[in-house]
Amino acid sequence: MSVLVTGGAGYIGSHMVLELLDAGEDVVVLDDLSTGFRWAVPPQVPLVIGDFGDENLVKDAIARYGVTEIVHFAAKIVVPESVARPLLYYSNNTAKARTLLETATSAGIERFIFSSTAAVYGDPVQNPVTEDEPPKPMSPYGRSKLMVEWMLEDVSKASNLKYVALRYFNVAGGDPAGRAGQSTPNATHLIKVAVQTALGLRPKMQLFGIDYPTHDGSCVRDYIQVTDLARAHMDALAHLRGGGQSLVCNAGYAKGFSVIDVIETVKRVSGRDFHVEVSERRPGDPAAIVAGNDLIKSALGWRPQHDDLEEIVRQALRWEQNLAERVSGNAGLDGIKTGAPG
Ligand code: UFG
Repeated sequence: MSVLVTGGAGYIGSHMVLELLDAGEDVVVLDDLSTGFRWAVPPQVPLVIGDFGDENLVKDAIARYGVTEIVHFAAKIVVPESVARPLLYYSNNTAKARTLLETATSAGIERFIFSSTAAVYGDPVQNPVTEDEPPKPMSPYGRSKLMVEWMLEDVSKASNLKYVALRYFNVAGGDPAGRAGQSTPNATHLIKVAVQTALGLRPKMQLFGIDYPTHDGSCVRDYIQVTDLARAHMDALAHLRGGGQSLVCNAGYAKGFSVIDVIETVKRVSGRDFHVEVSERRPGDPAAIVAGNDLIKSALGWRPQHDDLEEIVRQALRWEQNLAERVSGNAGLDGIKTGAPG
């Protein structure tokens, strides 16, 4: 009996693998290493390199490792890229997920955890946004994920498969023990960008828009620490193993911070000032999105342990320094791009 983690060499997936190992579970990772890293998979974990949409590969892995559950992280996740290349997103995130579901149900898999996104809400009518708000995604990325939620709903009615879809808000930080973190080169995520700027890996950063209807004019987001998010998946697995019903839940802290709040926190925690250039609004950014989290707490018993922006920023800083130091002779962004820690 083992858990198949697609995208287990990536940012959130690698933290999930650590949680599973810490809980004594058998794990197998499936990753095509397009954005993940071989070194992010602990040596005792079997790594199948390939495509989660490859039916034969997945079927073989399920049989070979005795897979009974799938946690599906592997996806394309860059919103502007999804606008420029929608068919890539519908192919990778939607069509291949359809194939994965077919492979899973044919192999008798009965529990499936899916990485969904707050992007399914678009610009929510009210915050904190709850799961009963009708989804109105603003990007092909959000749509590509929402369609998988719909497939899961239909498949679960027509088969023995039960699922939990977690709608992630803004994932940040790293493993509190320093074993993993966000390693994606040229990541566009706010905390990563601000931390890299604080460390001098970027000369400056941009602040996209200060004319939003928020307390300081910059966008408000709900930043969830990555280990807390991985724990939500563990709770989702326990829920399904205990016979729980299929669910779609937000994963966030019900607490919003503005872009300016985040930048000030990074400056304070790092002890470094850096250049922030105020720019135009970034297309497609909702003014504010904060997770209602009553459902995930009541249905899954989720209890966040790292709900602290300063702690998240400290983890991100430590991981970024760790990455830069491991890259021989070059602590700049180019070094991070080519370097392979470990
Ligand atoms: N921002 C900046 N400067 C930067 C980077 C970001 O000002 O250099 C701002 C953005 O404009 C936005 C906020 O910081 O207002 C957060 O931006 P991120 O790119 O970190 O994250 P998003 O909120 O755009 O997107 C995240 C996930 C998506 C998910 C979405 C759902 O990355 O996958 O939340 O709301 F779809």
